[in-house]
Amino acid sequence: MKVIAFNGSPRKNFNTAMLLKHALEGAAEAGAETSLVHLYDMSFSGCRSCLACKSRNRPRTGLCVLRDAATPYLEEALNADVILLGSPIYFYTESSSMRAFMERLLFPVTRYEKERSLLKRTIRTALFYTMNITEAEIAKRNPPFPENFSLSVIEQSAFFMKRVFGHCETLLCTDTMQVQDYSKFYMDIYDGATKKQRHDEVFPLDCQRARELGRRLASASDLQDKESS
Ligand SMILES: Cc1cc2nc3c(=O)[nH]c(=O)nc-3n(C[C@H](O)[C@H](O)[C@H](O)COP(=O)(O)O)c2cc1C
Repeated sequence: MKVIAFNGSPRKNFNTAMLLKHALEGAAEAGAETSLVHLYDMSFSGCRSCLACKSRNRPRTGLCVLRDAATPYLEEALNADVILLGSPIYFYTESSSMRAFMERLLFPVTRYEKERSLLKRTIRTALFYTMNITEAEIAKRNPPFPENFSLSVIEQSAFFMKRVFGHCETLLCTDTMQVQDYSKFYMDIYDGATKKQRHDEVFPLDCQRARELGRRLASASDLQDKESS
């Protein structure tokens, strides 16, 4: 059982990375071989719309034909049993590196045919999002569109992941602590003490949820149960 996680935050030890690390620990507890890739360590681009992955003159491998730093990791992801994608919300969507990575991962396995995925097997996937917005703010904005845009982006990403890989779950981590000491920054709309309290009390629970999700996704028997149900 191979589980690969991609961190779409430029920060390697903050909220998103911590959630992914806990998810991988859970997966390792279930016996999986795990790895964590930091997208901001790599120089790569999004889809160039060359459409070579859809060409009748080439073998359809599901792997993006562009060759850059993302290539070996895209290949690893397609050979994995579980793919975890973690991203901070930036202006109500995934970070630019995560968007670019998702384009490269999803488009070559997406078919413009009746059958929409090139994959012959299920790869379990999960999307992890961290954000400043609170649960109450999300509830307030949902509906109407476009105010609920942050949620619709998440739902759309989950939809595309599920269509291609056959399985996708999402874990939201809201009201995160963006900086350790708010008094050092022009961030007056946030109360540092309240943020810290939330971080101390709720973030460990978010990490626990991530750990449980990682463990469950990496558990082969649970995979069979879910797929046959
Ligand atoms: C460029 C930028 C844009 C952001 N936009 C949003 C946003 O639209 N909504 C939101 O809730 N948080 C937003 N945030 C806050 C981050 O999503 C939040 O702090 C997240 O937990 C950071 O993840 P990290 O700690 O893993 O880096 C933004 C942060 C940055 C740096």
